[in-house]
Amino acid sequence: METVVIEKGSSRVEVLSDSEALSHKAAETFVNGSKKSVAERGRFAAAISGGSTPTRLYTLLGTSAYRDRVDWQHVHLFWVDERCVPKEHEKSNFRIAFDALLSRAPVPDGNIHRIKGEEVPEKAARDYERVMRRFFGISWMPMFDLVILGVGKDGHTASLFPGSKSLEETARLAVPVYLDEPDLNRVTLTLPVLNHAFQIVFLVTGRSKADILSAILEDEEKKKRFPAGLVRPVEGSLTWLIDRDAAEKLNRNDA
Ligand code: 6PG
Repeated sequence: METVVIEKGSSRVEVLSDSEALSHKAAETFVNGSKKSVAERGRFAAAISGGSTPTRLYTLLGTSAYRDRVDWQHVHLFWVDERCVPKEHEKSNFRIAFDALLSRAPVPDGNIHRIKGEEVPEKAARDYERVMRRFFGISWMPMFDLVILGVGKDGHTASLFPGSKSLEETARLAVPVYLDEPDLNRVTLTLPVLNHAFQIVFLVTGRSKADILSAILEDEEKKKRFPAGLVRPVEGSLTWLIDRDAAEKLNRNDA
């Protein structure tokens, strides 16, 4: 199947046949983005997600077909969110990326800027903010070259959940998120940080995401209720890579 491109307001939506095609497209996006950023700014700073959807992307980036096309010395990896668990924990977003990618690609240790999930949430968020301020410059909003996001069925993205106070944050770069069970507490980047990125790419697969995608992409009123619908880059680009199943409820679904 050819990729179908649908323009939805300022978002570009690319419908791919399945999650494998989507992961390859995301890997190409990462490789090309890294080349452009290294050429223009001397480095490539990417903030990556947890969740199950991007794991295949990380695995592909660790294979020679993609790995050998990236100048890893100049790649800096950050996370959009983290669960408050040790880094070896199976729920750790760092661990997912480590197993799939970091253990296979020559990223210098100093270029890996993880969120310390082993700390209490407030401290982990403050420490992470310091790490970003040091990297991007203390007085300005970080501008990631690429931010990779997913969407939950409830419309959350990163660890920004519907109705959460963290959605109103305008000063902090990262905040703690307290959920019902302690090992589900998290730290997340805030909306202003996401929205200042040069390039934002959502990865969404499966029928279970079809309703939320149609609300976010096609209903101007409803989208504001969902954190993922509040992701609107100030100047950068916003692309949705979705598979055919996730696109099922979109009006112009000619996929
Ligand atoms: C996380 C995420 C989260 C995720 C969505 C979608 O750490 O879990 O950053 O926002 O992207 O929940 O997750 P799936 O890819 O598993 O559907």
